[in-house]
Amino acid sequence: ALHPVILSGGSGTRLWPVSRELHPKPFIRLADGETLLQKAFVRAASLDDVADVLTVTNRELFFKTSDDFEALPQARSLTKNYILEPFGRNTAPAVAIAAQYIAASYGDDAVMLVLPADHIVNDQRGFAEAVREAHALALDGRIVVFGVKPHSPETGYGYIEADHNVVKRFVEKPTIDKANEYLASGRFLWNAGMFCFKAGVVLAELAKHSADLASTANDCYSAAKTLSGSDFNQLLLDAETFEQVPDISVDYALAEKSTVLAVVPCDIGWSDVGSWSAISDLSQPDAEGNRVVGDVLIHGSSNCFVQVEEQRVAGLVGVRDLIVIDTPDALLVADRSRSQDVKHIVAQLKLRN
Ligand code: GDD
Ligand code: MG
Repeated sequence: ALHPVILSGGSGTRLWPVSRELHPKPFIRLADGETLLQKAFVRAASLDDVADVLTVTNRELFFKTSDDFEALPQARSLTKNYILEPFGRNTAPAVAIAAQYIAASYGDDAVMLVLPADHIVNDQRGFAEAVREAHALALDGRIVVFGVKPHSPETGYGYIEADHNVVKRFVEKPTIDKANEYLASGRFLWNAGMFCFKAGVVLAELAKHSADLASTANDCYSAAKTLSGSDFNQLLLDAETFEQVPDISVDYALAEKSTVLAVVPCDIGWSDVGSWSAISDLSQPDAEGNRVVGDVLIHGSSNCFVQVEEQRVAGLVGVRDLIVIDTPDALLVADRSRSQDVKHIVAQLKLRN
């Protein structure tokens, strides 16, 4: 059996105004009508030998999350387990507590597949193939990461120096100079943010390399309350105990340190969908390169991405390379080439509160 674990948190500041604290990036709905979170669930549920899916998310997002899952036919035959956090503490605590949960429910040798809730993987067959390879390595006691071929010196990703399945080095979020060097060397892959390992192995590795995290996460697991419904189980984390756990990502706490890392290089149509220009690239353009979501009328405009609220109509006249995102209480207008900079608007908004 394989036990997928979906990590769903983080606010995705570059996707403002659609991504908000209580409507984070996994809930962004793409042009095909599915949210990124639903896509992650379907991606997990479509794998062989999966009977349960564990989702780690904020407790305020439980109903929104389960509504998204219940809308999927793939969700019906699976057990839905949830670990509910009182606030975000980054990914290492989420992974550590998930591993405790999986080890207690299915044993130390149970293999987990950690999946981010905010990615696109276009090639499901290629993905399933990569997971099969990772599963075999995980059964051998390895911590497996997935490597995709880099095409730009992105500083927001982890870099894996790889030789086939062997990992020589894992570097999380390098400086731009390092990223350029890694890209030019041709020896590095981007970390796709997915992990595969035995629950017992990841717990032992965390205890070895991040002892404080391992022991506080363990306290959290012990102090948590459980609640079960007809086809779901919840583990509710206690805020006071969770507050003691260090705020650190699994990439720094584990991947940069572990000596049992292995990599599966893969070409699976992966995209981190980190910006509006990346989201726009997912849909088909018209002859002038415009892409729209909703009711948009266009005259003499090119290479724009426009998304409007239902019940609204928008018009574009004589403009190019614009991103326009309309929501009930906020409007974004940005130059397409500057879509990474939307996070600065969120930073300014935060200063107001
Ligand atoms: N439950 C929970 N709690 N989930 C969280 C939390 C949290 O506190 N923080 C983040 N997540 C979820 C996010 O929703 C996302 O699905 C996943 O964990 C990864 O977190 P990000 O915050 O998006 O990480 P990142 O993009 O900076 O970096 C990671 O992903 C890159 C690829 O997209 C790293 O693994 C990099 O190495 C990797 O290249
Ligand atoms: Mg991310």
